[in-house]
Amino acid sequence: MRIDVVTIFPEYLAALELSLIGKARQDGLLDVRVHDLREYTTDRHRTVDDTPYGGGAGMVMKPEPWALALQPLVAEPVAAGPTVRPTLVVPSPAGEVFTQAMAHEFASLGHLVFACGRYEGIDERAIEWAGEHFEVRPVSLGDYVLNGGEVAVLAMVEAVGRLIPGVVGNPESLVEESHADGLLEYPVFTKPSSWRGRDIPEVLLSGNHAKIAQFRRAEQFRRTAVRRPDLLASVDAAGLTATDRAALSEAGFDVVDGLLVRRDPAGS
Ligand code: ADE
Repeated sequence: MRIDVVTIFPEYLAALELSLIGKARQDGLLDVRVHDLREYTTDRHRTVDDTPYGGGAGMVMKPEPWALALQPLVAEPVAAGPTVRPTLVVPSPAGEVFTQAMAHEFASLGHLVFACGRYEGIDERAIEWAGEHFEVRPVSLGDYVLNGGEVAVLAMVEAVGRLIPGVVGNPESLVEESHADGLLEYPVFTKPSSWRGRDIPEVLLSGNHAKIAQFRRAEQFRRTAVRRPDLLASVDAAGLTATDRAALSEAGFDVVDGLLVRRDPAGS
C-alpha cells in the first residue's frame, strides 16, 4: 500500500520509521512518503498561511502550496491501477469520526494521501479542488482539538497499517481485540498467577477452553456495558447466546424486541 503525507512538520512523522510500521516499510509492505508543504511555496519566506477573509482569530493555510504539493500525487501510477482515484484524508475536528470500520476500509485501498492542516485549517477552495482529483475524506480522531493533523495521521497510519496482511506477525491478534467484533476487549493477565495479593481469575488456569471463551466473552459484555454502552446498540441481539444474555443482564442490559436496552434502575 502507498501512503503519502503532506505536512509542514515532516519530522513529526519520523515515528513511522519505528516498530511494526517501520518494519512493514522495510519489508516493502508499506510505501510511506512524507512531503514538506513548504517545498511547494514560491516566495522567499516559504509562506504557507495568511489571515482569514472575514476576520477572526488565527491563520488559514493558503490554497496554492496545497495544490502544488498534491498535484504530483494525483498522477503517480500506483498498484491499485490508474482508474482508482487516491483517497485524500484531511484530518480535522470537523470530520467524520475515525473508527475501526474506517481503518478496514482505508486498508483495502491502494493509495492514501494525508493532508496535515495546521492553524485554523486549509482554505476550503483547496479542498474543493482536491475533490476533482481525489476521494476527499475529512476525518476526526474524536471530539477534541489538536494543534494539527500530524498526530491524527500517526494514529490513523498505525491503525490502518496493522490491518495490511503481513504487518502484524500473528493475524489472530487482530481477531480478539477491542472493536474487532463491536465490543471492547476482555482483560488479560500474565505470570505470576498471584501478584501482590491479587490472583488471576481461576477459570484461566482450568485448561477448559470453552469455559475460558465463555468467561472472556462475558467480560467483554461487562466492560462494554460499563465503559461504552453506546456500542451495545449495534450488537445483533439475535446472535446472542443464553450465556451472553446472562452476562449482559448482570451488566444491566436486557434484550427487548430484538434490541439491547439498559434496564431502567428505577423501574426494576
Ligand atoms: N486536527 C485538529 N484536531 C483534530 C482531531 N480531533 N482529529 C483529527 N485532526 C485534527
